[in-house]
Amino acid sequence: MDTTATFWLPVPASTVAQDIDALWSFVFWISTFFFLLILGMMIVFAIRYRRRAGDVERLDKGPSHNNPLEAAWIIIPTLIVLVIFVWGFRGYMKMTVVPANSMEVKVTGQKWFWSFAYPEGASSVNDLVVPVDTPVKLLMSSQDVIHSFYVPAFRVKRDVLPNRYQVAWFEANQVGEFDLFCTEYCGTSHSDMIGKVKVLSKADYAAWLEESTIGAEGMDPVELGRKLYTAKACMTCHSVDGNPGNGPTFKGVFGHHVDFADGSSMTADENYIRESILSPRAKIVAGFQPIMPTYQGLLKDAEIDALVAYIKSLGAESE
Ligand code: CUA
Repeated sequence: MDTTATFWLPVPASTVAQDIDALWSFVFWISTFFFLLILGMMIVFAIRYRRRAGDVERLDKGPSHNNPLEAAWIIIPTLIVLVIFVWGFRGYMKMTVVPANSMEVKVTGQKWFWSFAYPEGASSVNDLVVPVDTPVKLLMSSQDVIHSFYVPAFRVKRDVLPNRYQVAWFEANQVGEFDLFCTEYCGTSHSDMIGKVKVLSKADYAAWLEESTIGAEGMDPVELGRKLYTAKACMTCHSVDGNPGNGPTFKGVFGHHVDFADGSSMTADENYIRESILSPRAKIVAGFQPIMPTYQGLLKDAEIDALVAYIKSLGAESE
């Protein structure tokens, strides 16, 4: 099995990739062949049958038609497109029908990150972790606008819509890390909505599951908060260095006065931060848009505590 990238296409890292690439190459080379044939004959004919000095008009002398030639240019292209249709349809069925023994991952797209929920209760943000040689069914939906889940190495691309489920599946056939993109323009940070699919050996996957399901008990809350800040994609919108992004910076927020869009204000405390994580639209900081999605169900209580502790620590540093 050839598992290297070519000049045209990325690494074929799923079970359907080889077949799709073969069809793609077939269409590509057929098109190239006819492009060169037709263009070549146009050039040859234009030179060979050009008007020369002393030519007289002989418009009545040319052949009116040629039966074998006309039959050939009907039959040959028809056979070619039929081959492409049958080949493409079989590939489409293979990509569409999810194998019965698939493991199911719930995929949620929202501005501007991906989150993944695994059958055993683990979850991850932006990076999808899967075992090798295992069919994986993706049950996908969006919290807000249309996103699109795209893993070039798997030849998988599917729009992710609000208010309904979309399904895709793949079976990775090699261990490694592969790019994951949002490929539907979804707003300001669309280009940051990227991640990796981490394909692990079955043993490594089992270990990863165990580790991420248990969580980070006994870890220093500030340290855990710092990890969550990256792992849960807070950093997409909130800086920790004082610069505003799509949302206010975390630096120096805690214990300070915050002005809201409705004209009210308060001093940021633990409850304000907790509310902003779980019901982000309850209080909108003046000068920002109400674009943050809720983290209800995405964070455990201990993780919210850790984020509060981390934001507190940033407040202290700024004094
Ligand atoms: Cu989500 Cu583009």
